[in-house]
Amino acid sequence: MAAPKKVQQRLAALRKEIDHHNYRYYVLDDPEIPDAAYDRLLRELQEIETNHPELITPESPSQRVGASPVTAFQEVRHAVPMLSLSNAFSNEETSDFDRRVRERLQVDSVEYTAEPKFDGLAVSLRYENGKLVQGATRGDGTRGEDITQNVRTVSTIPLHLLGTNYPAVLEVRGEVLMSIAGFAALNERQRANNEKVFANPRNAAAGSLRQLDSRITANRPLEFFCYGLGEVVGRELPALHSEILELLRHWGVRVAAETKVVNGVEGCLTFYRDIMQRRDSLPYEIDGVVYKVNRLDQQEKLGFVSRAPRWAVAHKFPAQEEMTTLLAIDVQVGRTGAITPVARLEPVVVGGVTVSNATLHNEDEIERLDVRKGDTVIVRRAGDVIPEIVSVVAAKRKKGARHFRMPTHCPVCNSEVVRLEGEAAARCTGGLFCDAQRRESIKHFASRRAMDIEGLGDKLVDQLDDSGLINDIADLYTLNKQDLADLERMGDKSAVNLLAALDKSKNTTLARFLFSLGIRLVGEATAQTLASHFGSVEDLQAADLEALQLVPDVGPAVAESIRAFFHEKHNRDVIKKLRKAGIHWPKPEVVNKSKQTLQGKIFVLTGTLEKMTRDEAKQALQARGAKVTGSVSKKTDYVVGGKDPGSKYDKAQQLGVRILDEAGLRKLLK
Ligand code: IVH
Repeated sequence: MAAPKKVQQRLAALRKEIDHHNYRYYVLDDPEIPDAAYDRLLRELQEIETNHPELITPESPSQRVGASPVTAFQEVRHAVPMLSLSNAFSNEETSDFDRRVRERLQVDSVEYTAEPKFDGLAVSLRYENGKLVQGATRGDGTRGEDITQNVRTVSTIPLHLLGTNYPAVLEVRGEVLMSIAGFAALNERQRANNEKVFANPRNAAAGSLRQLDSRITANRPLEFFCYGLGEVVGRELPALHSEILELLRHWGVRVAAETKVVNGVEGCLTFYRDIMQRRDSLPYEIDGVVYKVNRLDQQEKLGFVSRAPRWAVAHKFPAQEEMTTLLAIDVQVGRTGAITPVARLEPVVVGGVTVSNATLHNEDEIERLDVRKGDTVIVRRAGDVIPEIVSVVAAKRKKGARHFRMPTHCPVCNSEVVRLEGEAAARCTGGLFCDAQRRESIKHFASRRAMDIEGLGDKLVDQLDDSGLINDIADLYTLNKQDLADLERMGDKSAVNLLAALDKSKNTTLARFLFSLGIRLVGEATAQTLASHFGSVEDLQAADLEALQLVPDVGPAVAESIRAFFHEKHNRDVIKKLRKAGIHWPKPEVVNKSKQTLQGKIFVLTGTLEKMTRDEAKQALQARGAKVTGSVSKKTDYVVGGKDPGSKYDKAQQLGVRILDEAGLRKLLK
């Protein structure tokens, strides 16, 4: 039986509305409604489609889940070949490119569009009468593979174009890639499931897009950016490349926000420097920038040489992966005794920075890579992530290269090293007897988010420990001016300042205090929950495993770690000493279940509050079960704006997140 007209109308309206929100979210990066509201629309749509499967169309926003697997990809012939770009590796080579362009065109100056060069996979998307009918890889440029089912699962690829004035045939060319965050999350998931870990976002994107089973692709965080066109039939296009990109954006296709029109080679190089500086903070990896002559008539005049256009060039960034030699594998002992293997490398410049150390994470990672001393390795440094070893060049391995063995005893204190079942890290059992653990724990104690002792940096902690003036964190508060002034590079003035900072740090919160103790698995958030749950160190100390596990987010491992910490007499003594030295905090409000009025709600605080500090507001919110985070997103439930709020306030307005003033907050807390 045909669905009632009313249902059909609602379905059409829903699809239109969801498409609109997809456009706001993916193309304009400026969503209008919160995630929850979007999810409701999608759910309503799915409900109707479940009841009326005959109404499902391939363009429905619900159809991004992937289709049944295929045995092989079909071949696709590109109507317009997919070309590559020639490269420039320096400013000089870029100037050469500009000079050649000007000479050929016989002009003094040329206008270019400058775009990021995405590090992913080129794809061609064919729209007929506005509907996505085919997706293809680049292949050899003339023939690629049909990956239609796969591209359909990528949420930034529109299943149909918006508006009405698009050409009858439109081939959109661009890059499919994975964001750095998406890549990290995918690898974490893969590791947890004992599945293949990808070396970099590019490989992850390639591996995900070329799945014969598109349902797998659907679960991979792929994205798409458009940078040009292939075949176009049935409509005149604007005269400038930048106008074409603008038009594509209008039709709902995502174009990089960084794209810019610039003048001459100077404009190109300024763009390069600017993007290079922001490279580490971009959400995705780029391996350079692309300059394209903006006027299409000039592009046509310039034409092609072999398989690359004369009107474009890729100005490449220094590579983020390099090859070097692994000189040794050392181990480092952290605050909690975790022993981390560190690769000592023949220094090599990666992404413009000299790298001589890289983390090897743990024993399992070394085994997975099968990396050995003397090996030729590929090192990677991307964003602000610690340099890593990605792989070993097996062919270059020297005969007799030996496997790494985790030391059985701590290289710092010689205590036994153990690795507990189910744990990735091996640990030194020396506790605070171990110099390394002691120093790291003092550094942690003094750090900004813990006791916030201004001026007590890593070097000074090492110096104090060397001099024998302190043996544990509590000794910090017994230091006097003379002790300090006698240290090298420390004058009277710095000594006085440090004493003042120590004094100031005594006035703290229970949560900070618990965090600063450095109990394994107790981070800032857990410390906060423990503080509001127990209200005092004594009560926390007295709690048994069962009582501990009643606290939200405290599982058996965390509970066991807390119990073990307080079981240690040394730790209890240090706490006593610290309290005697005058460390104090206001009594936190203890939570009882009936008061969890804001359970699960997410808050962001910005600006200055008048009747309470931000910390107090945070505690009060957390005591009621709310989460307080640092940045505004669509998941945020409330933004509390005090006096002189920052950009978070604007962002909240943009995203339509509810905004409270101080009075509103107080009301909510009541
Ligand atoms: S334009 C005719 N623009 O780089 C010009 N390509 O090295 C064709 N790429 O195969 C390409 N970002 O996969 C162009 N903004 C951008 C790009 C870009 C990345 C890739 C593309 C191409 C390869 C050439």
